[in-house]
Amino acid sequence: MRASAVAHPNVALIKYWGKRAAAGNLPATGSLSVTLGGMQTQTTVQFSAGLAADEVSLNGVVDAGASARVTTCLDMLRADAGTQLRARVESWNDFPTGAGLASSASGFAALALAGAAALGLEPEPSRLQEVARVGSGSAPRSLFGGFVQLRNQGEGTVCEPLLGPAEWPVSVVVAITRLEAKETGSRPGMRLSEATSPCYPVWVETHEADIQRALQCIAERDFTGLAEVSEHSCLKMHAVMMTSRPPLMYWSPATLACILAIQALRAEGVPVFFTVDAGPQIKAVCLSEASGRVEQVLSAIPGVLRTVSSPLGEAARVTQRDA
Ligand code: DP6
Repeated sequence: MRASAVAHPNVALIKYWGKRAAAGNLPATGSLSVTLGGMQTQTTVQFSAGLAADEVSLNGVVDAGASARVTTCLDMLRADAGTQLRARVESWNDFPTGAGLASSASGFAALALAGAAALGLEPEPSRLQEVARVGSGSAPRSLFGGFVQLRNQGEGTVCEPLLGPAEWPVSVVVAITRLEAKETGSRPGMRLSEATSPCYPVWVETHEADIQRALQCIAERDFTGLAEVSEHSCLKMHAVMMTSRPPLMYWSPATLACILAIQALRAEGVPVFFTVDAGPQIKAVCLSEASGRVEQVLSAIPGVLRTVSSPLGEAARVTQRDA
């Protein structure tokens, strides 16, 4: 009743920000992401009769904060398996946790896979995605490699790969500008924006056009077009965040310095664009041939603490299963 799985974090090029009113942690819009192969979460789940409650540790430290969401996901798998057994969950990230690198996405993708395998379940892809999504809205995307799309469909979501990691050699250089945890987490931040930003309805209304444009650019390997629509989606999301009341200001001065440096690089002909999530880190998406130059420029910007470069990665997978 023990299994381990590995999943990689992902970064959205066309973001989602906002949830549907229904239960199940359903996003208001779809999204489109790339999976980062250079970083990973490894999670081991062991169900055993001796436990009174699920126990969760992250990088060797008991993580009481994560337990409620983990238990919600494991409850779904326990219902499928017809068991009441509690589990010990050990998760290790080989990249900075809480530094805006979507550790919740890789964490819940790995949890869903390892939890199902530990219980001997072979869930339908849609069920596995649902379990991951209840943990974190961006987690189903980490179940897949390369370029990934998440779509709203009926009462749920469907997630599927668009291009494998080798089909378009793209890399992501993450510039870390602050290591402390963010002030407002994604979930309360989204609720605030839904309720108070006058830009929120426009964000939702114009979202599908951005997805369609990005799909076209990916199909045609049109990096310049993808850069334009991805930066637009990112800035539109931050416009929603910044016009919430009170405002959600996730950027640091170094975030803006990196944005300007990336725009200057692109004007020089370097194939790179920026994206920023609910935190101050910058993710520079570039054709892999340009990643050295991009890393060199970003690491020299005052306020950039370190950079991490990653090619695109493979789908999440079960790495060990014991009866
Ligand atoms: C800004 O999916 O991490 O990164 O469901 O509360 O865990 P929870 O939120 P999460 O939010 C991601 C928000 C984002 C945009 C994106 O990844 O699409």
